[in-house]
Amino acid sequence: MNFEEQMKQRTEEVEAVIRKSLPEETGFQKTVLEAMNYSVLAGGKRLRPMLMEETWRMFGGEGEEIGLFMAAIEMIHTSSLIHDDLPAMDGDEYRRGRKTTWVQYGEDMAILAGDGLMIFAFEVAAGAFARTAHPERVGEAVRILAAKTGIYGMIGGQTVDVELTGRPMSGEQLDFVYRLKTGALLEASMMIGAVLAGADAEQVKAVERIACDLGVAFQIQDDILDLTSTQEELGKPVGSDEKNSKNTYVSLYGMEAAKAEVERLSRRALEGLRSFAGRSAFLEELFVYLIHRRK
Ligand code: IPE
Ligand code: IPE
Ligand code: MG
Ligand code: MG
Ligand code: MG
Repeated sequence: MNFEEQMKQRTEEVEAVIRKSLPEETGFQKTVLEAMNYSVLAGGKRLRPMLMEETWRMFGGEGEEIGLFMAAIEMIHTSSLIHDDLPAMDGDEYRRGRKTTWVQYGEDMAILAGDGLMIFAFEVAAGAFARTAHPERVGEAVRILAAKTGIYGMIGGQTVDVELTGRPMSGEQLDFVYRLKTGALLEASMMIGAVLAGADAEQVKAVERIACDLGVAFQIQDDILDLTSTQEELGKPVGSDEKNSKNTYVSLYGMEAAKAEVERLSRRALEGLRSFAGRSAFLEELFVYLIHRRK
């Protein structure tokens, strides 16, 4: 199987794992459940659960806990997108090839659907305690999930992103935003894969650094695509950053420097990945693929 075929197959597998953990759309609160599932089931690349599972495999993971955390990270990521698209934030009307949640269900339901997904993710992840031979690993994975989502992670990054929208931002602040708003959830993905597989503290630290580089590169590429792609290809609007007078790596340093930085950080991440005893050919190919991704 070539890489593209492997990607397709693994994405479908991840998709099936996520579906198993989604809530049933019944009860008086049905509307919020529909809004949650609407956005998760719209698709997306499923990069975070895929990175989690592949890192877990690389460290020889076993057991069924991983599936619950894969679903949880995708729910948290999706919740961040639902809120990111709100009029109070980026004000975007298209996501994953569909109308955004707030356009489809209203702002009230979009706020609740984002909250709902973020906290349901922890309900799902906590279910792993009942199914594991290693409760201490599950505990650490839950801690990482919370830390990388919260004020010292994605939410912290989004805070500075929106607060400094339309205002000057230093290189240091930009780096902070990228590491947190996007890097943190990629770090969580790979670190949880490693932790659940029983990797030691030093390995988990190394995984965190690798995922941080990958995450920052991923966000710079996202900014590049916002300027060079099409809504059809991305499934979300292009030109959103300019519309919002966002500070991005491209607006600060220019397109050529941005492309070079994606390449540099991704190569450094790849080197780190190759330093582990257990090698993952698929993960290595995935890292390279992401440098040139078009969506
Ligand atoms: C979009 O993430 C938000 C960023 C952090 C750049 P993805 O590009 O992974 O979005 P989906 O999950 O494929 O929709
Ligand atoms: C958002 O960055 C990162 C999140 C934590 C959601 P962007 O605002 O650039 O993401 P897109 O382009 O809307 O997906
Ligand atoms: Mg944003
Ligand atoms: Mg946005
Ligand atoms: Mg963007």
